[in-house]
Amino acid sequence: MQITAKILDAVKQSTQCLVVACFEGSKLSAAASAINAADAKQLETLLKREKFDGKVGQSLLLLNPQGIAAERLLVIGFGGHDKEGSISSDNFRKALQKVPDALKATHCSDLSIILGDISVSGKDAEWQARQTVEILIASQHRADSLKSKPAEPSFVLKKVTLGFTKASTASAAKGIAIGQAIAKGVDLARELGNLPGNICTPTYLASEAKRLARGQTHLSVKVLEEKAMKELGMGSLLSVSAGSDQPAKLIVMEYKGGNKKDAPIALVGKGITFDTGGISLKPGAGMDEMKYDMCGAASVLGTFKTLVELQPAMNVVGIIAASENMPNGSATKPGDIVTSMAGLTIEVLNTDAEGRLVLCDALTYTERFKPKAVIDIATLTGACVVALGNHASGLFSNNEDLAQAILKAGQTANDRAWQMPLWDDYQKQLDSNFADIANIGGPAGGSITAACFLSRFTKNVAWAHLDIAGTAWLSGAAKGATGRPVPLLVQYLLDNQ
Ligand code: BES
Ligand code: MN
Ligand code: ZN
Repeated sequence: MQITAKILDAVKQSTQCLVVACFEGSKLSAAASAINAADAKQLETLLKREKFDGKVGQSLLLLNPQGIAAERLLVIGFGGHDKEGSISSDNFRKALQKVPDALKATHCSDLSIILGDISVSGKDAEWQARQTVEILIASQHRADSLKSKPAEPSFVLKKVTLGFTKASTASAAKGIAIGQAIAKGVDLARELGNLPGNICTPTYLASEAKRLARGQTHLSVKVLEEKAMKELGMGSLLSVSAGSDQPAKLIVMEYKGGNKKDAPIALVGKGITFDTGGISLKPGAGMDEMKYDMCGAASVLGTFKTLVELQPAMNVVGIIAASENMPNGSATKPGDIVTSMAGLTIEVLNTDAEGRLVLCDALTYTERFKPKAVIDIATLTGACVVALGNHASGLFSNNEDLAQAILKAGQTANDRAWQMPLWDDYQKQLDSNFADIANIGGPAGGSITAACFLSRFTKNVAWAHLDIAGTAWLSGAAKGATGRPVPLLVQYLLDNQ
């Protein structure tokens, strides 16, 4: 998809579809007004007839509009203005989402959107362009690569022109570049997330990581096999793969775009390519969705895809703990005690609490890179979905500055997290009679005790944990990976450049 920012003339722009804004109270944008004037106020009449008054979410597609060069005209409602004439950032995104929705059934491949006459509160042209690009590229995502005859899509975008003022085209162009890079990362994370467990195994994730690094000067990838992990003492991670025929992999990615001496930021992803629960077997209903239990890993790979696209001057380490959680005859049993790389012994009271078991060893391994901050990303607990639903990722941290920076990045990127407590009060729920720590803390505060477990392995570093169990994928008719939290992670990295 070719995307550019230009000054556009609403009347003269020849395009397959021109998109203009209308605000609440039937207030036409400058572009919509020009179009209205070019055709004896026909637009006003049509909008009135359809009771279109500019509320956010409204859209009206006019085929063969008169008086302008465009083949189609799409009017989008952007909602109400504030005193300064600006709309909210939420409304901007909601309204833009209506563009692909409205064009889904058309055969439009060349789109022009006039954004320069829309002012968004607290946001600049760069932000507007970036959000627009992310929404448009995400709308083109296909999840039917494994169908024998994928349906012929109608709405395939090839060319997008964003209309801005002269003063803002340079800033918009920057937004387009960042938006495209983030969209590619999101796309990769969605694609990997949606792949079934029989294809996307730990070995598959490892080869994806290697593929990303191919031909790259700043990115290198190495994969630790089970033998190497055993030598490192990763008894906790290996207790999860023990019950599977697929070998576990520890994937180590190093992006070195910055100075040699600069400490990296480390991203650690949970990569359970299928979670049956192990011997503590999960119930059958909906178990297919546990193919998404590697979405933390997918978000790390997606973020590295974006890094490769943008080549920022910084150092980032990505660690992926990849394994299946299966219940064969060698599987770990409830009550088994294993020794982690950090030396802590763990009583595995529930083999379905496997995410923390692979992450603790990956987090200990991460120490060798002396990172200035570590963020782990994991579909860790069903309890997090109960607490926060599908809108916010759960954030836990032992460092308040890091937590605030992540929350802010989530706001900017429209990929929000919400901070949860990590108080000492919860720690004693992990006491075990027989080992240093138990791997579950009972039904109360399940996402918090899971984070408490990880905190025992991250005492010496600024660390944050993102529980993405509710945000990484959608269920029901819209079942599919979201690519979250790639936008948040990229934003956090760029903010800390
Ligand atoms: N991968 C699951 C968490 C999960 C469950 C994410 C449902 C999204 C939807 C994780 O490995 C798990 O099974 N967690 C258990 C922990 C429990 C045994 C303490 C859970 O949440 O039930
Ligand atoms: Mn589990
Ligand atoms: Zn899991």
